[in-house]
Amino acid sequence: MILFQSLFYETFLKPIFFKLNPENAHEFSKNLLQLADNIPFFFQNLEKFSTYESSRLKTKVSGIEFPNPLGMAAGFDKTGELFPFLQRLGFGSIEVGTITQFGQKGNPKPRIFRYEKESALVNRLGFNNPGADKAFETLSKQQKKIPRGINVGKTKLTPIENAIEDYTYSLKKISPISDYAVINISSPNTPGLRGFQEKDSFVSLIEGIKKSLGGNFPIPTFIKLAPDLEDSSIEELLEIILSLKLDGVVLTNTTINPSSMKESQLVEQGGISGKPVRQRSLEIIRLAFKKLKNRIPIIGVGGIDSYESALEKILAGANLIQIYTGYIYKGPFLPYMILEGLDKFLEEKKVNSISEIVGKENS
Ligand SMILES: Cc1cc2nc3c(=O)[nH]c(=O)nc-3n(C[C@H](O)[C@H](O)[C@H](O)COP(=O)(O)O)c2cc1C
Repeated sequence: MILFQSLFYETFLKPIFFKLNPENAHEFSKNLLQLADNIPFFFQNLEKFSTYESSRLKTKVSGIEFPNPLGMAAGFDKTGELFPFLQRLGFGSIEVGTITQFGQKGNPKPRIFRYEKESALVNRLGFNNPGADKAFETLSKQQKKIPRGINVGKTKLTPIENAIEDYTYSLKKISPISDYAVINISSPNTPGLRGFQEKDSFVSLIEGIKKSLGGNFPIPTFIKLAPDLEDSSIEELLEIILSLKLDGVVLTNTTINPSSMKESQLVEQGGISGKPVRQRSLEIIRLAFKKLKNRIPIIGVGGIDSYESALEKILAGANLIQIYTGYIYKGPFLPYMILEGLDKFLEEKKVNSISEIVGKENS
């Protein structure tokens, strides 16, 4: 049945979406979701056909209960307005944001590009978001049925020297209505942001944020890293992440490496997502799992668009996984397909819980 649904998406809906420029297609789908919500029969069916449930897929990470390990990655719901719909479409969690202290429009349009031969997107959105106050207002009115992550960044106009204040403001504001937080220091589209991945700047930033928050993060707090770091820098950062008592890592953000594209030439500036980032993010998860030895969890993201690419991330060491670009290319039934595949795998292997196969690549 689910094959029929996804064929329907491929044949009828995707050609319409892909005729529009990517940002308009996103707006269009947002409007469609809101419209569908007003037609209960339609939305209930969408919900039914995109939701896959199994006790084997339930998992507890950082003390949070997830109905399944598959989340929507940051950037899809940059305002928090889509959370009520997305939480009914089969995901086990939604990461809202990136949210910054002050609302901002982001970079001039066009700023998202499809590279279809690569099953990739390139974006240079630049954290377009309503700001922490408005996001709080939106999110606080909602009923939360699954865990919500809040991803925070720095407002473009805030000087680097004042970044601690910017991050702290958003964390303080939105943490009380979220289950976990992600400190994003890896977006390529905010000048200077990736500089916080350098050892000394990273330590000052995190210690500064922690101090401003009274010594502790109020909810489990993860760090999201770029795939473009050298292995040695990642290992060094992971050591620091452990010593600063952060709760986990999100691996990875988009890449700016043009040679990650195999079939096309990169002509637009921005972060590349989808298939080109799959292998590098997998390598980094593997590296991180070896280094972290299960002391803190890993959220694996980058190029997942099938059950196989989801499973490889879990076997490499991801406790949770996320998708974004795969959802654009494969459509709203992708969570069902991924979760069904994972569940069948567990059943065949006679394993009772997804958490038992995390990092079990070689067994
Ligand atoms: C259009 C677009 C916008 C994104 N915006 C954000 C963002 O605001 N914050 C963030 O941490 N990651 C952002 N990302 C990165 C994704 O969360 C994810 O890390 C990356 O795309 C790799 O996953 P994927 O290959 O499944 O897309 C964005 C990705 C895309 C494609």
